[in-house]
Amino acid sequence: MAGEPLEYLAGFGNEFHSEALPGALPQGQNNPKVCPYGLYAEQLSGTHFTAPRVANRRSWLYRIRPSVTHEPFHPAPFPNDNLTADFTAGHITPNQLRWRPFPVPTEPVDWVRGLFTLCGAGRAGAKDGIAVHVYACNRSMERSALANADGDMLLVPQQGALRLITEFGRLDVAPGEIAVVPRGVRFAVELRCGAARGYVLETFAGHFALPDLGPIGSNGLASPRDFLHPVAWYEDVEGVSYQVLHKLEGQLFVGSQSFSPFNVVAWHGNYVPYKYDLSRFCPVNSVAFDHPDPSIFTVLTVPPLAPGGPPVADFVIFPPRWLVAERTFRPPYYHRNTASEFMGLIRGQYEAKVDGGFLPGGASLHLCMTPHGPDTQTFERASGGSGADAPSHLGHETLAFMFETSAIPRVTPAALGCPNVDRDYYKCWVGLKSHFDPSRRDPLPAVPAGGKAAGAAAGGGKPGGGANGLGPTPALVDGEAKAAANGGVVANGAGVLG
Ligand SMILES: [Fe+2]
Repeated sequence: MAGEPLEYLAGFGNEFHSEALPGALPQGQNNPKVCPYGLYAEQLSGTHFTAPRVANRRSWLYRIRPSVTHEPFHPAPFPNDNLTADFTAGHITPNQLRWRPFPVPTEPVDWVRGLFTLCGAGRAGAKDGIAVHVYACNRSMERSALANADGDMLLVPQQGALRLITEFGRLDVAPGEIAVVPRGVRFAVELRCGAARGYVLETFAGHFALPDLGPIGSNGLASPRDFLHPVAWYEDVEGVSYQVLHKLEGQLFVGSQSFSPFNVVAWHGNYVPYKYDLSRFCPVNSVAFDHPDPSIFTVLTVPPLAPGGPPVADFVIFPPRWLVAERTFRPPYYHRNTASEFMGLIRGQYEAKVDGGFLPGGASLHLCMTPHGPDTQTFERASGGSGADAPSHLGHETLAFMFETSAIPRVTPAALGCPNVDRDYYKCWVGLKSHFDPSRRDPLPAVPAGGKAAGAAAGGGKPGGGANGLGPTPALVDGEAKAAANGGVVANGAGVLG
């Protein structure tokens, strides 16, 4: 990225403070009669005033002119039909959906004009639900800024580095990183390259938080110290025509003002945009057999609205990692979940889809209880062969992610009708044939440490005795029986781990 690296403040949910001029931040109070340097004090609240202290979010900004100084808002003069924040009338389908990469425009399009809503649930007007968008653009927002009154936005760049200029300062965000811009924060997206594409998870309720770690303990997954917040930065630009865009219930309004909205000289608080480098994520996974649920890869979550309820949304990644589980079908298993899953691919090839249809910049959507899982080729490859399962590494060249929600998203007509919808997606599974043979006797997978105990216990202490002492159990044949006769030592050799 060109230019000097930006400075950041590290942490998550902290009370941060920053000032671009020494002494610009009032001391001992938030709202002095006269602020340092003649600045205006302005509060930006992200929760209701009486929210519990642990959840309360607000920041104080000290700016050259207050945000209220603008011409009246009116509907934005450019089409925004592709932007939706009310899904009560959206299209519902139980079918698996997949989109090939969304095209990057050839005509000039900035980040706001390049937003395209794919699906969502609830509606922003009720502060309930989520929206999933993609963006594709090829020019920076010039003399314009966006404030999203509908919710928080989590940006997942897939192509092209961005610089987010916000009221709190600047964030450089490249593919492989994410950024969160809380509700109401004014920001502009500058492109640091010719074209950019990515994904956005917008939540109409709550705010992104770090997931609880439960039995994992106090470390692992995303570490609070790796979340980076901007330092105060301002531009004292007057006598210009600056367009402030305001998104409210999915509609874009615009108000003109004669100065830059990025005029905050100092600020403090805990309601601040931030970014995170996904390579800092520390995965925790099975080191023996089988799969934990993908919730182990949760980077950020929007907590339940009521105690004990499901999260509003999760942001989950499938990071580079070692696969070491033995006697295990290592790709994701076939499943039907109560949650709905939107997936995107930042780079590489996702481990469960090798048919060439799930590509960087594309997406898939599996709604509540819609069956899905690895494609035919992946199943045949991963369930075939013989011999020990050597550790393998999911390379750093691949990074997929998932927006998961307990709601049932509805799909916009534009998303269903766009030319890059993969109408043959279902075909990636139609080749899955029956392997069922009731006469087949497969050896049980070897259990290295438990083979002796299992054999001895099953045989009443007699090697090969079987559960009823009448001989080997039907499945205890070949390698297992020999191993049991050999004192329970089972080699991870061919024919044992099939
Ligand atoms: Fe899934």
